[in-house]
Amino acid sequence: MTEKLKVLFVSSEVAPFAKTGGLADVVGSLPQAIKELGHDVRVVMPQYSKIDSKYLSQIEPVLYFRTRVVWRDDYVGVNKLERDGIINYFIDNKSYFDRTTLYENDDKHVQFAYFCRAVLEMLPKVDFKPDIIHCNDWQTGPLSIMLKEDYQIYDFYKDIKTVYTIHNLRYQGVFGKEILEDTLGLPYKYWNWGVVCHDDCVNYMKMGIEMSDMITTVSKTYAEEIKTAEFGEGLDYVMRMNGDDLYGIVNGISYKDNDPETDERIYANYNSGDLTGKSENKRGLQEELGLPQAAEIPMIGLISRLVDQKGLDLIASVIDELMEEEVQLVILGTGNNQYEKLFREIARRYPQKVSANIKYDATLAQKIYAGSDIFLMPSKYEPCGLSQLFSLRYGTIPIVRETGGLNDTIQSYNEVTGEGNGFSFTYYDAQDMLYTIKRTISFYQQKEIWTKLVKRGMESDFSWKSSAKEYLKLYSKLVDKKSN
Ligand code: GLC
Repeated sequence: MTEKLKVLFVSSEVAPFAKTGGLADVVGSLPQAIKELGHDVRVVMPQYSKIDSKYLSQIEPVLYFRTRVVWRDDYVGVNKLERDGIINYFIDNKSYFDRTTLYENDDKHVQFAYFCRAVLEMLPKVDFKPDIIHCNDWQTGPLSIMLKEDYQIYDFYKDIKTVYTIHNLRYQGVFGKEILEDTLGLPYKYWNWGVVCHDDCVNYMKMGIEMSDMITTVSKTYAEEIKTAEFGEGLDYVMRMNGDDLYGIVNGISYKDNDPETDERIYANYNSGDLTGKSENKRGLQEELGLPQAAEIPMIGLISRLVDQKGLDLIASVIDELMEEEVQLVILGTGNNQYEKLFREIARRYPQKVSANIKYDATLAQKIYAGSDIFLMPSKYEPCGLSQLFSLRYGTIPIVRETGGLNDTIQSYNEVTGEGNGFSFTYYDAQDMLYTIKRTISFYQQKEIWTKLVKRGMESDFSWKSSAKEYLKLYSKLVDKKSN
């Protein structure tokens, strides 16, 4: 077993500071779990002006310096905030991070190239020499190649190993050829080697995969799926070639920040031994959203970025049939215009049955996890998915499609053996989904079975405990390799 390791997580978003998706939840909770196993774990992210002022005001300066970023001479401010015993560093440069959106900027290739370089430059200055730099998604793709090309000649950097985690292969960071030398400061030889380009473009995701020492993704099923043309997003050949260094480790969630017994965001607290508080949550939510306050009508929750990946077209195509059932449907999320319009329209047509909340609202999200009976997640693909895990924790039964992490975490209820923790369907097919919803509702009406499922979900363990140990095993493998 390796002694105390030093690990630096690098991410473009970290909850609760800045979040657009599950990546933030992961980097906001996994470091804590690794730290609890006895290691020195720190986190670094950009200091966006969009960070909630509550946190911005607590960030303290550490130091600043100027550095050469390719041909530019740039300012790098390093600030920090300690939360739950973890040091979070923030890279501060207003010209890159004082923006109205996190990722919708025309110069995002420059923003994140700068971020990766600033992180590498900051390490000796803050006197933190990690054994492992753990990068996440395309925004941190260039870090490993920069480390190898420009820094590994120096003693301080030469033993540092990199791990690169793919949270969603669809978002790759694809830019024109010209940025290779100009923005990344990389010699042209890399273009010819093929490790930085795909389809005649520079591809930050591919770079991360090709140049990091180890690659992981967020479930075992997704690790296999992305080696196929159907799920590979054009990079399946890269995944197959790097298959020996690719590991699937399923995400967990923070059981401390998501605890129905103590959560202050919900209407009433409860636990698996006493579910009366759960009914309170349903009633409170119905009241807040202006739906009929009926305890017996199954309430289906859906919290999601409203994008193609999430299987929303399946819902659209059977919505009228679904509305023939006695159900309530509560939606929360933002995303593509087409889906935002669709759900607003459905709510307008079925005001007694549907509540469409087209916004981002973390408190309402918890109320929906707690108040719903069923959680719907019919994703076309899902690298891991966290909502099904939040649902289980709050005693809400997930309906999922059998893909990626949904396949690894949800086992469909089997009425013969009594096993299972949710309901699932195999094919990406609206009728199969509808059939599964109806099947779920039929069990909702059988209170004994339903209560057993609710309690089973609440008592299961999808915290980070075992996945954190798996990450540590991989880290140790890399560090041991080094000492050989
Ligand atoms: C992305 C994926 C999601 C995963 C999350 C965290 O948002 O789409 O499936 O759970 O990253 O890894």
